[in-house]
Amino acid sequence: MSKNVNIDWGNLGFNYIKTDLRYVSTWKDGNWDNGNLVEDNKLAISEASTALHYGQQCFEGLKAYRTKENKIQLFRPDQNSKRLNNSCKRLLMPEVPEEKFIDACKQVVKANEHFVPPYGTGATLYLRPMVIGVGDNMGVKPAPEYIFCVFCVPVGPYFKGKMAPVNFMIADYDRAAPQGTGAQKVGGNYAASLYPHLLAVKRGFADCIYLDPATHTKIEEVGAANFFGITKDNKFITPKSPSILPSITKYSLLYIAKEYLKMDVEERDVLIDNISEFKEAGACGTAAVITAIGGIEYKENLHVFHSETEVGPITKKLYDTLCGIQIGEVEAPEGWIYEV
Ligand code: PLP
Ligand code: COI
Repeated sequence: MSKNVNIDWGNLGFNYIKTDLRYVSTWKDGNWDNGNLVEDNKLAISEASTALHYGQQCFEGLKAYRTKENKIQLFRPDQNSKRLNNSCKRLLMPEVPEEKFIDACKQVVKANEHFVPPYGTGATLYLRPMVIGVGDNMGVKPAPEYIFCVFCVPVGPYFKGKMAPVNFMIADYDRAAPQGTGAQKVGGNYAASLYPHLLAVKRGFADCIYLDPATHTKIEEVGAANFFGITKDNKFITPKSPSILPSITKYSLLYIAKEYLKMDVEERDVLIDNISEFKEAGACGTAAVITAIGGIEYKENLHVFHSETEVGPITKKLYDTLCGIQIGEVEAPEGWIYEV
């Protein structure tokens, strides 16, 4: 680490900290410019930007990890690039070439290397790429210009309690429509989740769980994370639906459960009325990593899985293997790790 920063790495939460440099590139007249690193953390954009009025924007989240040998690595940034471009397509925004996306992420990590938390602290450097529609525009139509930006923030756990289980409640609201934008990482989904999240927190839950918007019978998302459950006969199960965000962590866990832990795995409907089929359950995502679910409240009953205080043994194994791969202590499948 070149410069010293005054950060209590072991006690970081998931909060904004201004780091030194961020990457900004502009799209105009059909092309992205080369992009560059800037000190200013404020974007000056037209008051008539589509990102401000019509939600024409999307974002990503990925992390940089410091290894024992003091190397820095990214976990599957090519997958974030693909998902960003899928969000861009859905909102009629220009795609960012994968090479440009990964190069921007690497530039930001290198320029803020002293903000990459030390090995062993459990903290990581979270990267937030985004594409926003900007420029002067009034009607509901795509913007004339776009900004692709990547900034970074050192973070600790997203859900309080580190590896301790947390409880969730089933939301009465939907975060996305059946054929809407639930599978894309667009701001509107998160705006729709703020109110149900507040109601859940006010009642003492970590967040809420969304059921499928068409029938309200199947589990979809756990706040800003995907759901998985371990059946009594040791199968790794995760919901399948067109309105769930395809979590890169979830697809990595499907692979890890099958290939590393030799479990049967399945992506299929998870009925809330059949929740007792699981002996363990968890939330997974870049920010959430793996957070064990203690219990889920539905229709005034709290269903507890393994325990409200202890993480179940299979959830723990999944966590150790995933984090081991991310910090370079467990051999990664080919192509998962990008050295910075
Ligand atoms: N679901 C939602 C709604 C999210 O915001 C996220 C975070 O990106 C996830 C799931 C987890 O996805 P990933 O594992 O790719 O971070
Ligand atoms: C992530 O896990 O990267 C997320 O985007 C979750 C949340 C902070 C929006």
